[in-house]
Amino acid sequence: MEKKTIAVVGATGAQGGGLVRAILADPQGGFAARALTRDPGSEKARALAATGAEVVAANVDDAESLRRAFEGAYGAFCVTFFWDHMSPETEQDEAKKLAQAAKNAGVKHAIWSTLEDTRKWVPLSDTRMPTLHGKYKVPHFDAKGEANRFFAEAGVPTTWLNTSFYWDNLIHFGMGPKKGEDGKYAFVLPMGDKKLPGIAAEDIGRCAYGIFKRPDLIGKVVGIAGDHVTGAQMAAELSRALGQPIVHAAVPPEVYRGFGFPGADDLGNMFQFKADFEKEYCAARDLGFSRSLNPRLQTFAQWVDANKNRIPLG
Ligand SMILES: NC(=O)c1ccc[n+]([C@@H]2O[C@H](COP(=O)([O-])OP(=O)(O)OC[C@H]3O[C@@H](n4cnc5c(N)ncnc54)[C@H](OP(=O)(O)O)[C@@H]3O)[C@@H](O)[C@H]2O)c1
Repeated sequence: MEKKTIAVVGATGAQGGGLVRAILADPQGGFAARALTRDPGSEKARALAATGAEVVAANVDDAESLRRAFEGAYGAFCVTFFWDHMSPETEQDEAKKLAQAAKNAGVKHAIWSTLEDTRKWVPLSDTRMPTLHGKYKVPHFDAKGEANRFFAEAGVPTTWLNTSFYWDNLIHFGMGPKKGEDGKYAFVLPMGDKKLPGIAAEDIGRCAYGIFKRPDLIGKVVGIAGDHVTGAQMAAELSRALGQPIVHAAVPPEVYRGFGFPGADDLGNMFQFKADFEKEYCAARDLGFSRSLNPRLQTFAQWVDANKNRIPLG
């Protein structure tokens, strides 16, 4: 039987990498992985090739390279790179190019890795949080949500995948526990006692693989998470696994926005949005549904146990 090729954008990264590994881990599954990268010679790209992926050169900024990379593929996994440039307009441009390439190549099933346009809940006139870049509340969410229409308008058979906060941010994004002036470790999460839906980044790709096996999900918006946990619960799991008392520092969102690192305002607004709309935001990321796509889905406690030696104590 001929395998269905999935062209995977961001294949050397977190989401795309998880998908490539999920496809390769299931050789009888009927799918083949085509890994897109700007540099097929990189260590990560060569590692994917060594495990059986077809590695092709493509740059989202180069429409012709994308067209070649999507050509003949059954499916396309489309993700954009907000934190590389932090420009909502650039992100929308990337999404538009991906939708157009999927359309031109005639893929049968695209997954667009997206997030909510928070302005549907918090219009720009709402003063509970500042408006950023003139027309966004949570730029890296709003830009993706606004780009949803590019896939619909191009008539691409799409599943819109609302992802969740990666717990890997505790390792790679400076969000791990920090030592305070009192010498105690604190896990900062500006969401009070509200639950944060989160996921192991690797599980996003595994869920995406589950979606490609479900053509009935074409035309649907789906959301995934591995757990819905409060900051206090996360701090308790971190304390247990790391063997250090770690408290939850529930700073207000305005304090978080003022932390000063690039994107602190965007993330402060994001956490406030997730807290203020906890019920809707969690409901849009059903754990049972996520597990049905990916039976290996990890909870926060499982993820912490598996990664405790990689979580830096700052
Ligand atoms: N961190 C979170 O909690 C979280 C949660 C939900 C959603 N997100 C979203 O996830 C997105 C990023 O996904 P990720 O974390 O999987 O990314 P990632 O790990 O940073 O990897 C992205 C990959 O994309 C490739 N790439 C970058 N620019 C490219 C371009 N112009 N053309 C082609 N490939 C390019 C790079 O590969 P090469 O160098 O090999 O080309 C890179 O390895 C962001 O938009 C972010 O907002 C993040």
